[in-house]
Amino acid sequence: MAEEKPNEFLKAKKIETGTVIDHVAKGKAMRVLGVLGIKEDFPGTVTVLMNVPSSHYGRKDIIKIEGRTLEKKELAHIALIAPNATVNTIKKYAVIDKYVVQTPSLIEGVMPCPNPNCITSAEGISRLSVVQAHPLRLKCSFCEKVYGEADLLR
Ligand code: CTP
Ligand code: ZN
Repeated sequence: MAEEKPNEFLKAKKIETGTVIDHVAKGKAMRVLGVLGIKEDFPGTVTVLMNVPSSHYGRKDIIKIEGRTLEKKELAHIALIAPNATVNTIKKYAVIDKYVVQTPSLIEGVMPCPNPNCITSAEGISRLSVVQAHPLRLKCSFCEKVYGEADLLR
């Protein structure tokens, strides 16, 4: 068998069915999996590539989720963490849809308000509006405090 070129190796195996989240800023892959709720009980194969050389971004992360497509709401959640991400839907090994994520203006029930005294902490609900996409700044609709990424995504 012919030897693989280094960049072919880094792209990893193509998937048959599922989703490839590409152009994720380096270091953000685990947080993207977090907002998608993908953890140890997920039945499909998940490939996480971190710190992959990229011509556009220097370095990037890529996530390949086999057997799972994403809902519209989930695409918005990805945008919060990876505002430049491209979400590719794969069927029979082909890219059948390519979507560049867009930052939502309001997110409900995705992540809790970090303020322990906020009414939403006890109620188990959350509503945060996006003040700024990059770097991320969200404002709680209840306690009206503004939070940065470090407060929100722990
Ligand atoms: N991919 C995959 N399995 C497939 C098809 C594609 O894992 N069956 C991956 C590719 O390796 C790439 C991403 O999905 O990381 C997007 O594929 P493609 O559109 O073919 O690549 P590019 O043209 O490089 O994408 P872009 O223009 O968005 O950078
Ligand atoms: Zn609050």
